[in-house]
Amino acid sequence: MTPATDLSRRAVILIGSAGTAAVLAGCSTESSAGVEAGGQTAASAGAPQEVAKLADIPVGGSISATLEGKPILVSQPTEGSVIAFSAICTHQGCVVKPGGSEFDCPCHQSRFNGATGEVLDGPAPSPLEKIAVHVTGGVVLTSRR
Ligand code: FES
Repeated sequence: MTPATDLSRRAVILIGSAGTAAVLAGCSTESSAGVEAGGQTAASAGAPQEVAKLADIPVGGSISATLEGKPILVSQPTEGSVIAFSAICTHQGCVVKPGGSEFDCPCHQSRFNGATGEVLDGPAPSPLEKIAVHVTGGVVLTSRR
C-alpha cells in the first residue's frame, strides 16, 4: 500500500465517521422536534393548561402571561371571575399590556376594555381575541377547545 493510498483510506474512514456523526446528530435533532411537535399536538387537542394562579391576578385588574409561548392577558373583573385574551394587538401586532381595568397598546395607544377585550380607543380595528379559561382550585386553566 502506498502512502497516498493509505492517506485516502484514512480520509474515507474519517469522512465516514463524521458522516455518521452528522446523521446521528440529525436524528437527534429530529427526535427533539418530534417531541415538541407531540407536545403541541397534545395542547392543541384541548388538554387544559395552567395560565396563571388566581391569587396573582388583582381583582379589577389583569396580568400578562404566556400560553404556548404566546403573550396573553388574564383579567379578574370581579372576584373569582376570570377572562383571558390574546395580547397581540389587532392593529399591527404589538404586545398589549395590562393597565388597571383596561389594556394598553404601547405602539399606537389603542386601549381595550379589560373585562371584554373591546376597543375603547385608538386605531385597533377589532377586539382582542378571547381565550377560554376557567378556574379550578385557585388555578386558571385553559378550557377544552
Ligand atoms: Fe397596537 Fe398599533 S399595534 S395600536
